Amino acid sequence: MAELVIATSQAPRARVQAMMEYHPPLGSRDALRLDFNENTLACSPRVREVLGQISAGALTRYPEREPVEAMVAKHLGLAPAQVALTNGVDEAIHVLFEAFLDAGDELLLPVPTYTMYEVYASATDARAVTVLADADLQFPYERLLNAIAPRTKIIAIANPNSPSGTAATREQLLELARRAPQAVVLVDEAYFHFHGETVMDLIGTVPNLMVARTFSKAYGLAGLRLGLLAGPAELMRWVRRVLSPYSVNSLALACLPAALEDQAYIEWYVGEVLAAKKEFEAAVDALKVRRWPSRANFVLVDIGAQHGEFVRRMKAEGVLVRDRSNDPGCDGRVRITIGTREQMSGAIAALKETMAALREEKGSR
Ligand SMILES: Cc1ncc(COP(=O)(O)O)c(C=O)c1O
Repeated sequence: MAELVIATSQAPRARVQAMMEYHPPLGSRDALRLDFNENTLACSPRVREVLGQISAGALTRYPEREPVEAMVAKHLGLAPAQVALTNGVDEAIHVLFEAFLDAGDELLLPVPTYTMYEVYASATDARAVTVLADADLQFPYERLLNAIAPRTKIIAIANPNSPSGTAATREQLLELARRAPQAVVLVDEAYFHFHGETVMDLIGTVPNLMVARTFSKAYGLAGLRLGLLAGPAELMRWVRRVLSPYSVNSLALACLPAALEDQAYIEWYVGEVLAAKKEFEAAVDALKVRRWPSRANFVLVDIGAQHGEFVRRMKAEGVLVRDRSNDPGCDGRVRITIGTREQMSGAIAALKETMAALREEKGSR
């Protein structure tokens, strides 16, 4: 049998060899999934209808994104040249970084934050400069302003942020954009629907502001991989040059108009999550577990040294939650997605059981 020899000439770029690895804990997720901040229930029934009507013939054609992009732009009150659909916000981040980050440039990030910013930055020749939030995990505004440098090329801000759930104000975001005219300020509004505040209306009036949105969270379409990037037309033309013309597939494109039209479904789902969040937070407080105020569809709780055991026991109770202990400044912290009130009453029962068991274990040591 011929031996497989990997010649050094087949090695990837040094950057890729040194790239940060990211392995989301997928697999055996047949439980209440409170670990990825997904919609925990379903997408709009209208989207299901569209999916059921897709013909085999339709799948033979390459996807055509422009008509749907124009529809999305109209929905957002923007011009088609200001909006690009992407294969999830992840692709928007990837493409933006590929388009703008050069050797010697800096990506400025408040941390802890969404992991993929650093992952995609590590594939470029730019350097990630991180600004750690205080223990309250509030947006480290003043320190971010002070960290702006001539080589700052992108400032990426998840708003609301994950895993903290805290948010920056519109004024803070605008001031950052003003103070870093040489940089693109990316505001990632993945959790916009739960927060209700946006800077999307400023697209085109602030020359260096870009906004990303996803259909993976409130819309319940994480499996379709659908996101968008909005920005001034002059910046979007460079993004489009890097973006694959077919990265958003035809199933996603077919479903998007129905998803957008059914705003009543989004309002219902968001209302359900916000009501469930109140109940869940009250239960966390009653157990005297520290938590951070959240503007999104998840809550970060401080479990302390027993965080690993907490996640294992919650799983045994049928509830998946996400250990964020490896995030900067997050040792012992666990992020719990909020679902519907019915789902969360099950999660509250699991939380009570788990905390009682952990406290007993700790007491008996
Ligand atoms: C802040 C933030 N941005 C982007 C994403 C990914 O979005 P998408 O599924 O559209 O790639 C996530 C997912 O967890 C997120 O938390």
